[in-house]
Amino acid sequence: MDQPDNTARDNRPIDKALSAAVGNETPRPASTTSGLLAPSTDRPRILVVANQKGGVGKTTTAINLGTALAAVGERVLIVDLDPQGNASTGLGIGRAERKVSAYDVLIGAALIEDAVVPTQVPGLDIVPSTMDLLGAELELASVPRRSHRLRDALARMPRHGKKREISEAEAQITMRPYSYLLIDCPPSLNLLTINAMTAADAILVPLQCEFFALEGLSQLLRTVERVKTSLNPRLEIQGIVLTMFDQRNKLSDQVATDVRTHLGDKVYRTVIPRNVRISEAPSYGKPALVYDHRCAGSKAYMKLAAEMIQRERAIRRSAA
Ligand SMILES: Nc1ncnc2c1ncn2[C@@H]1O[C@H](COP(=O)(O)OP(=O)(O)OP(=O)(O)O)[C@@H](O)[C@H]1O
Ligand SMILES: [Mg+2]
Repeated sequence: MDQPDNTARDNRPIDKALSAAVGNETPRPASTTSGLLAPSTDRPRILVVANQKGGVGKTTTAINLGTALAAVGERVLIVDLDPQGNASTGLGIGRAERKVSAYDVLIGAALIEDAVVPTQVPGLDIVPSTMDLLGAELELASVPRRSHRLRDALARMPRHGKKREISEAEAQITMRPYSYLLIDCPPSLNLLTINAMTAADAILVPLQCEFFALEGLSQLLRTVERVKTSLNPRLEIQGIVLTMFDQRNKLSDQVATDVRTHLGDKVYRTVIPRNVRISEAPSYGKPALVYDHRCAGSKAYMKLAAEMIQRERAIRRSAA
């Protein structure tokens, strides 16, 4: 099969900024094996972005990491599993476009591919959320395999998502199968988060550089162990991302050092700085990388994507 022509994609500001952030390696689509990207495997890598602590940067990380991965040619699906729907809003998906949502998928009223909505970022799709998800826990209480609802739905999903009417140019991107699924979780260790952990290969934990960061983390790690024992033995810690790092604040530095001492290599070298452009972007319905690809926050998320791809490549090599 012919390789897609990426000239237009590589000339976009987002691609140029990514090249600057990660060095001289030219972004290439996931279908090639050279350059920055890990080779595609025959199933997407499913990562759950979770931390029961509120406002630590889960959604911001899901949106911007997803965008950065898509910018280097990965095919990404974000599943918004938070009733707040911040990932859906932050990616510009209005209420009218959420006719089928993650809630319908979980209760078994719809197939997940029918809930998929494309975003403004080529190669990045989302399963949006609605407030209905607030009721999902109660509704699923007496349903069999209630912790496996998302996992079962994903297992039935065709690898390309839903077939739809698209232009030829768009088809070159969207006809490739998903390589990454990022599940954005609510700030709670409830049944929604448990569904995400049961469906996932690994967990990515955004950790805000603040005083109580480590306290919440030990509870989260205990939950991961419990899910591993009882529901999903393959669940691993993919990594910890330090977010909202403020270099003028001594505490940020102290927390970062503490977390690295406790968790070593699991902590990404890339640190996401506190950056006002990141917090402005969602109100425009855009990822920060689209809103202002030059800001420090966008550059950090692009670096994080590059580091993550390298980490994923090492994981795949050692599993082979
Ligand atoms: N690096 C950053 N710099 C500045 N503001 C940020 C940064 N990361 C996130 N924010 C802002 O902090 C707030 C919380 O971030 P976000 O919504 O990503 O956290 P969350 O963990 O998903 O929250 P919740 O637990 O409510 O789902 C948002 O207003 C977001 O715009
Ligand atoms: Mg959130």
